[in-house]
Amino acid sequence: MKTVLLMITGGIAAYKSLLLIRALRASGVRVVPVMTESASQFVTPLSVSALAENPVRSKLFDLEAEAKMGHIELSRSADLIVIAPATANFIAKIANGLADDLASTLVSAARAPIMIAPSMNVAMWENAATQENMSKLGERGFLSIGPTKGDMACGEYGFGRFEEPEQIHAAIMEQLGAAPLAGKHIVMTSGPTHEPIDPVRYIANRSSGKQGTAIANALINLGAKVTFITGPASAARPEGAHIVEVETARDMETAVNAALPSDVFISAAAVADWHVEACEEKLKKTTDGLPTLCLSENPDILKTVCASKNRPKLVIGFAAETQNVVEFATAKRERKGCDWILANDVSPKTGIMGGDHNAIHLITENSHESWPEQSKTMAAKMLAERITDEIAKW
Ligand code: C5P
Repeated sequence: MKTVLLMITGGIAAYKSLLLIRALRASGVRVVPVMTESASQFVTPLSVSALAENPVRSKLFDLEAEAKMGHIELSRSADLIVIAPATANFIAKIANGLADDLASTLVSAARAPIMIAPSMNVAMWENAATQENMSKLGERGFLSIGPTKGDMACGEYGFGRFEEPEQIHAAIMEQLGAAPLAGKHIVMTSGPTHEPIDPVRYIANRSSGKQGTAIANALINLGAKVTFITGPASAARPEGAHIVEVETARDMETAVNAALPSDVFISAAAVADWHVEACEEKLKKTTDGLPTLCLSENPDILKTVCASKNRPKLVIGFAAETQNVVEFATAKRERKGCDWILANDVSPKTGIMGGDHNAIHLITENSHESWPEQSKTMAAKMLAERITDEIAKW
């Protein structure tokens, strides 16, 4: 497990470092938090410790903490030191070799690479002293990310804005070379499809796309490049994925074929089995009786991918069942030709379809596991870990 020594200094953007800690933990990175005294004016050591799952260190002369791990050892425990946010004052200190508190002492004792994410008012950033300090640090091999241009908490606009936590997270993962799915391309479908009846009506299903979005987020956190092909789902789209929006099953199939090849394909969409021989004009009520809807079969995207010459090495399908879940899903795995099936019971009593929880059975060629009922986010993390383990065998 890689270790990041995360130093939070006293700027308003300190609250964003909480999001950074969460993202790092989700990616399996150990976070050792260090806060300057002024940082604790902006976020509490308790929040930082709880999210990092490690106690915050903040004092140089803390006998108890020093006895457990001295500051030199602390500095050496890191694969990477990240200063986020870094204030103008802290940048000035380390550019001039000061070591008058724990954070600056750790920097001066460091052997690991150091990444700085500055955050300050535009005038402070443009100040010649700050610019000189940043150049000095750059020459000494310090890495930096941001700042960006934008609206600031102080009401001004310009450079000095803290880089977004997702971007800092990505830069850290790249620097650590720690992302287990880095370089892997995963294509996935998600959400329902809409099959038009006429220009204003359509047939749909109750899929929210929440499980699909959670899976994409978990994979992206582990460094995968995700192409996310989604029907009209209500769930938020995953940050950092290449998103392709489609409406019908036939559009979805075209998008999947265009996105392949990939290392993994995950078919999480609730694809409609039929489409209506659509009317160009809106159906009208008439006195001649009810209109007849003629249904035609939709392509089975999962089955087609499994049989294609571009078949990814790992193909994962879903089986939404309302009875005999494991038995039906086991047969479905063979029928579709995929490697794994994630089966769930979508009877209305379970609240799984559209809800925030899921109880999944993972069915592979030789095994069947029943995962506990858990949030869709946790289920997605479990799946992303399983995929990582499988890819590690290749
Ligand atoms: O046949 P059934 O709909 O039960 O199979 C479910 C699995 O097949 C899911 O992974 C779903 O995304 C996929 N599927 C598909 N194309 C269809 C129907 C289902 O890819 N037309």
